[in-house]
Amino acid sequence: MTPTLKNPLTRLRWGLLSTARINRALIPVLRQSRRSECAAVASRSAQSAQAYAQEWGIPRAFDSYEAMLADPDIDVIYNSLPNSLHAEWTIRAVQAGKHVLCEKPLATSVEQVDAIIQAASRAGRIVAEAFMYRHHPQTLRVKEIVQSGMLGELRLVRGAFSFTLDRPGNPRLDPAMGGGSIWDVGCYPISYARYVIGAEPVEVFGWQMSAPSGIDETFVGQMHFPNGVVAQFDSSFHLPYRAQMEFIGTHAGLRVRVPYKPGKAEKIDLLRGDQTETITIRGTSLYQGEVEDMENAILHGQPPRISLADSRANIAVIQALLRSAQEGTPCEPNLPQAAIKE
Ligand SMILES: NC(=O)c1ccc[n+]([C@@H]2O[C@H](COP(=O)([O-])OP(=O)(O)OC[C@H]3O[C@@H](n4cnc5c(N)ncnc54)[C@H](OP(=O)(O)O)[C@@H]3O)[C@@H](O)[C@H]2O)c1
Repeated sequence: MTPTLKNPLTRLRWGLLSTARINRALIPVLRQSRRSECAAVASRSAQSAQAYAQEWGIPRAFDSYEAMLADPDIDVIYNSLPNSLHAEWTIRAVQAGKHVLCEKPLATSVEQVDAIIQAASRAGRIVAEAFMYRHHPQTLRVKEIVQSGMLGELRLVRGAFSFTLDRPGNPRLDPAMGGGSIWDVGCYPISYARYVIGAEPVEVFGWQMSAPSGIDETFVGQMHFPNGVVAQFDSSFHLPYRAQMEFIGTHAGLRVRVPYKPGKAEKIDLLRGDQTETITIRGTSLYQGEVEDMENAILHGQPPRISLADSRANIAVIQALLRSAQEGTPCEPNLPQAAIKE
């Protein structure tokens, strides 16, 4: 007999796991949505949870992460903890029956991603990595153009994401918190290249400039994909703000001016010899897509746009790049053979 659903979900009650700065990107989207609401925030201290709830007009404040996970009136957790805590709290959340939108990177090892996949599958809950740029119409259009053959055969991809990090004590600088520029921002050009190419790298080579703590302050990487496509990228905490992606084919190139944080109207450039054709793309507000994607997945059973296999592959590539930089030799990412498409 099919069990009758009691109170089937029509509107998702979100709980913010921590008072992280990035929450401020999500809160306005949750407020505007008809299918979601920002119901609660949890913090390690009661005082900070209450102050945060008051500042942002959030109805409920929890004085511990555990207390929010134990509350039956929360459906979805937004995991905005530092990187090293993503896997542990995502697993705890799904075990408590919550769906989870987890900030990037979903975890800091493939073993952790495998544990998340297992826990989510056992609990029958959705987990998705919050790579917001993946949902934006510009990203979808870039992939469409490259895959259409408009550039000829794709040969080279170049990407960069850097900024100057001058906040001492920030978890991004702490190896124990999953710090380092490749985990923080290098993950974007890696993810972008893999997505648009539509395959996984067979071999990677990395070089890093390390801080005394051991984290990479600057990372330069190269990824070799099937069919002779090479992707190069850099990430850094020591360079001015740069955010770039470029796709170069045998006939033309495509330059994405604002690849990772695109807005409501963006321009991309199609480069043919010395001719530049500019294409304008109407977008949405940046963080709207990831919330709508969770709503579609939880309320309507659609697969999340970023699968856990996709997140696992990005993390496998990052780990291989870090291993390569340590060993000074090319490395193969830990990926199932089926993931590498010829
Ligand atoms: N997608 C994007 O556009 C984007 C942008 C920025 C950041 N991010 C990601 O979002 C996550 C959070 O980044 P953020 O810069 O917003 O973080 P943040 O401001 O440093 O906040 C992290 C929060 O984690 C909690 N926390 C728990 N244990 C902690 C510890 N040992 N040390 C420090 N904080 C601890 C704290 O909240 P309580 O004190 O309230 O418990 C803190 O406010 C990161 O994974 C980052 O990669 C994504």
